[in-house]
Amino acid sequence: MAAPLPQSLLSDNASINAAGRLSVAGCDVLELAEEFGTPLFVYDEHHVRARCREAVAAFGDGVAYATKAFLCTAMARLAHEEGMHLDVATGGELHVALSAGVPGDRLVMHGNNKSQAELEMALQAGVGRIVVDSFDEIHRIELLVADGWAPPTVLLRVNPGVEAHTHEYLQTGALDSKFGFSLAGGMAEQAIERVSETPAMNLAGLHAHIGSQVFAVDSFAKAIAALAPLVKRVDGDEFSIGGGLGVGYVSGESAPSITEWAEAVRGACAEAGIQSRILAEPGRAIVASAALTLYSVGTIKPIEGVRTYVSVDGGMSDNPRPVLYGSGYEAFLPRATSADREMGVRIVGKHCESGDVIVQEAAVPADLRVGDVLATPVTGAYGHSMGSNYNMVTRPPVVFAKDGTARLVVRRETFDDLTRRDLV
Ligand SMILES: Cc1ncc(COP(=O)(O)O)c(C=O)c1O
Repeated sequence: MAAPLPQSLLSDNASINAAGRLSVAGCDVLELAEEFGTPLFVYDEHHVRARCREAVAAFGDGVAYATKAFLCTAMARLAHEEGMHLDVATGGELHVALSAGVPGDRLVMHGNNKSQAELEMALQAGVGRIVVDSFDEIHRIELLVADGWAPPTVLLRVNPGVEAHTHEYLQTGALDSKFGFSLAGGMAEQAIERVSETPAMNLAGLHAHIGSQVFAVDSFAKAIAALAPLVKRVDGDEFSIGGGLGVGYVSGESAPSITEWAEAVRGACAEAGIQSRILAEPGRAIVASAALTLYSVGTIKPIEGVRTYVSVDGGMSDNPRPVLYGSGYEAFLPRATSADREMGVRIVGKHCESGDVIVQEAAVPADLRVGDVLATPVTGAYGHSMGSNYNMVTRPPVVFAKDGTARLVVRRETFDDLTRRDLV
């Protein structure tokens, strides 16, 4: 018999009543599904705030929230209120952070192909740091400074040539990568020389990001050891280790906490003789386990001798991670959260793709029926932010639950939204 959902996959302020019904931060999730409809993202606000505070306590001022994990106005404000800087990687993320009221000097501008317009936007906003990724970008910044913009403070993104233990598409620090200046072959050294010589920018230090969903802290230690000689030679006192800390998504998976990660990173830096200010920019570890997605079960289709397909009212448009990376999730029924899940099914979405899978091999209670609200936990990162309108499906709303109240922070898209940009 398959076990119930491990409670460790639920957010900090989740609770289950005697009848097995789930509440998040004092809000009954079935009532939330009723009120806001499904699919629905439910975030435990205190959980997100606690992770932001943990990151600030662990790394100190300058630690940034990687907004690509999940961004909306409320999230940008929350991370800023909790003392985090914000990492933005496109003009769009920059715009959302600025329009949420986050001051430019609390922003870190990323991107492997920042356009001239995006760089100009960043300079105009007075971003705290630009993380420079290519020689072309150095040239673009020089042109902008020649045009009269003040020279920005920059970090150089160096690719340490380390393969993090994670999915191939989530690795960013191996030699064969589009990101940063590689250590091997002397590209990083040349970039440091180039930036040190130009009056168009001030070098604050180096940056590395080895990948995402990394569980093994020694992958970070390897990168730190590889980069140490260069970090110590650079005339700047900051060293950012990027983001990438993994989180547990399924039974039996557990990851280091942000505090443990920071201790391991600091330890590795000390061992390598790095005396710089250590910075980081976690995304997933801040928001992933804060949220769950609620769906409604629409069809249950048993195929004799093969498997049973359970179709829900969302899919790859609200969570493309299973399609992109083969990521695993758990599923459960919030009406019977602690129930044994003895029936094996495949949970799929409503899109016109056979690959539109939410949970490849799910275990659910045997009394699952059409109309049930079904939940997948740990969907707070790279779900909403990677969502799409494929099949003209409207993107789900987001609520922040706190102290018994649910606040709608992103409304559901409407059919009218779908034609808003069309010109006839
Ligand atoms: C440069 C950079 N920093 C930070 C992050 C955040 O990573 P994670 O959400 O895994 O912490 C990413 C994500 O890929 C990234 O590319």
